[in-house]
Amino acid sequence: MTADLVIHNGKVVSPDTVIDASIAIKDGRVLAIGAAAAMPQAIEIFDAKGLHILPGAIDVHVHFRDPGYPHKEDWESGTAAAAFGGVTTVFDMPNTIPPTGTADILAEKHKIAASKAHVDFGLYGLLGDDTIEAVPALVAGGVIGFKCYMGNTFGKIPSPSTGAMLEAFEVVAPTGKRISLHAETNDIMERRQKRLMAAGIHDQFAHLAARPPVVAVEAVSRAAILAEWTGARIHILHISSADELRPLREAKARGVDITGETCPHYLLLSTEDYDRVPGVIAVNPPVREARNQAPIWAALLDGSIDMIATDHAPHTPEEKTRNDIWTVDCGFPGVETQMPLMLNEVNAGRMSICDYVRMSSYNPARIWGLFPRKGSLQPGADADIAMVDLGRDHVIRDAEIQSRSKISPWDGCKIKGLPVHTLVRGRFVMKDRVLANTKGWGRSVHTIQKMPSPDVRNAEHSMHAITAQRSAGRREKIA
Ligand code: NCD
Ligand code: ZN
Repeated sequence: MTADLVIHNGKVVSPDTVIDASIAIKDGRVLAIGAAAAMPQAIEIFDAKGLHILPGAIDVHVHFRDPGYPHKEDWESGTAAAAFGGVTTVFDMPNTIPPTGTADILAEKHKIAASKAHVDFGLYGLLGDDTIEAVPALVAGGVIGFKCYMGNTFGKIPSPSTGAMLEAFEVVAPTGKRISLHAETNDIMERRQKRLMAAGIHDQFAHLAARPPVVAVEAVSRAAILAEWTGARIHILHISSADELRPLREAKARGVDITGETCPHYLLLSTEDYDRVPGVIAVNPPVREARNQAPIWAALLDGSIDMIATDHAPHTPEEKTRNDIWTVDCGFPGVETQMPLMLNEVNAGRMSICDYVRMSSYNPARIWGLFPRKGSLQPGADADIAMVDLGRDHVIRDAEIQSRSKISPWDGCKIKGLPVHTLVRGRFVMKDRVLANTKGWGRSVHTIQKMPSPDVRNAEHSMHAITAQRSAGRREKIA
């Protein structure tokens, strides 16, 4: 058999080991991995001398703004940024215009993404008060999972009541899909923000003051209780505080199917950076005091936090630098800088390159039902590859990033370790730091997603069961 491509001389990284090996690729999949002499003939040979070969990163939290905000980002610019960042699969959030809350809107977004994307993708469906009835159609239409905004953030999607969340979890649980949560409790933040605004306080630290860690502690705890009751799978987005780790760990210890992510900005930035990049650093949840960093790192390394994502949230410089913090759009781009920033930490000895692969690729693939097609480089897997030069020095420049949003807290950051080539299903989408002509190559990964069978609990108490029983004319108490 002749392979399409054989990559020689690289160091192939898995969560357990780094081995010197060659990789043969055919029809977009890994055909063989092993000694150079054992490789089949190939149409193309590629020399990866001096490079580490990683399964491409899977970023389960990006906002590509398409449709709705083309001045901030679209599927082409967003996935170009992913390709430059060694990211081969992205999951896009539903706070676009219109929000991804019906099967028709989802189908339209699938079309847009498939026509423009350089990398593979999954699309979240919105789980809110008004979309519970649309859940079966959204699942049939191919959502990768659901997103629930427990707290207000960019896009002003109303947060569902606890009652609506319970009903939503009851409906999603039997589908086996995971629900990602923006876990900040809205009514705490709303009240504090109103009081601060009324007092005429509008500096950037007021944003932090309106969102103390207890908003996350309360939201994570409450979501975990609803997940435990219904058996719904949940994922805590953008973990920002040491405090919310306790309810996360307690829920895991109770056997709740709960996972979590953090982002480079919570690992590497703190309130000490606010005055360096005023307004630019504003993000939900906020970057917090430096004392939160060590516990978040420890949780990532001990597995309490399962993965690194970016919350890539592009906005324009004008939208990021308004004087009144309450009018600043929160978030900044990150899909392109996550891998360089984290490889720099590998070089600094904060974690091993194997740890990094576990957090950036292997765990997201497992948790989202994509393993082993994604998140691994074993035979049969998709040839989604980031080739990285761990010795390469680089300065991050906002003006040079692929994202349409040329403003981030990382401008001027000196790092060592850079993705230099990225392949998606065997095809170079970025080579030698140059984007390939691969617009429209990206495909939705929902077709390969296999979530384990659901473990539904307390179904007899669900609204669905109660109303079905009532309409059957039975009123007795359920035992
Ligand atoms: C995100 C955005 O801009 O869409 N902003 C942010 O501050 N994180 C929304 C979100 O993920 O909360
Ligand atoms: Zn969020």
